[in-house]
Amino acid sequence: MDIIEEIAKAHDLFIVEDCAHAIESKYKGRSTGTIGNLGCYSFYVTKNVITGEGGMVVTDNDEYTERIKIMALHGMTKDAWNRFSDEGYKHYQVVEAGFKYNMTDIQASLGIHQLGRVETYHKRRQEIWARYDQAFEKLACKIPAAIDRQMRHSSHLYPLLLDLDALSIDRDTFLSVLDKENIGTGVHYLPVHLHPFYAKLLGCRPGEHPLAEAIGQRTVSLPLSAKLSDRDVDDVIQAVSGALNYFKR
Ligand SMILES: Cc1ncc(COP(=O)(O)O)c(C=O)c1O
Repeated sequence: MDIIEEIAKAHDLFIVEDCAHAIESKYKGRSTGTIGNLGCYSFYVTKNVITGEGGMVVTDNDEYTERIKIMALHGMTKDAWNRFSDEGYKHYQVVEAGFKYNMTDIQASLGIHQLGRVETYHKRRQEIWARYDQAFEKLACKIPAAIDRQMRHSSHLYPLLLDLDALSIDRDTFLSVLDKENIGTGVHYLPVHLHPFYAKLLGCRPGEHPLAEAIGQRTVSLPLSAKLSDRDVDDVIQAVSGALNYFKR
């Protein structure tokens, strides 16, 4: 973030932080989402606070706050949401061509109660993370890089990088092997430039970004939920270690 801030300052750029995976994260003591001009969170079902769909934008700038509120509700003047309040009907005006991006009260009532559990869940995921690190350290894969002391990592995803040279199977076969053991997995992510839409839009071809492609072929995310029991974690460790040992060249 220091480097990003330097670049933004030098070129008069605006920083929007994507904190979809980083509600718990800190950078040199500062919470992610509060470093740039705007911080955006996702409350989609795969995240650490969930309202089904929806999210949140944070900023300390009153001007942005006002415009976000207007744009999120049909471009109507800021008081529009309480136009039917107990104080009687109030006129509203449409001042911009806005969107329908407001969070509903029902969604908010689901999310607000989860805020108090964020730290407890984070702690549990850190425990699982440490167990995975220990179990997979010496196998045909790379465990996630050690976390810099100046950072607080959200421990949202646990990605292993398979050492394909040391294995007789590719990543997708590895996923099927785990699937047969009833272990859910994810891939974060396939390289953006190889998705058909972006490949066409930007004229990208395989081989253009070898590092992203190498990671895209090797990465696999393991179950990492605070709701995993110790027994579930044992099952994941057993299935992953079993497959990596069995398919070792
Ligand atoms: C890193 C990242 N950023 C942004 C998003 C988008 O979030 P939403 O679907 O709530 O708009 C996601 C969703 O999966 C994500 O993983």
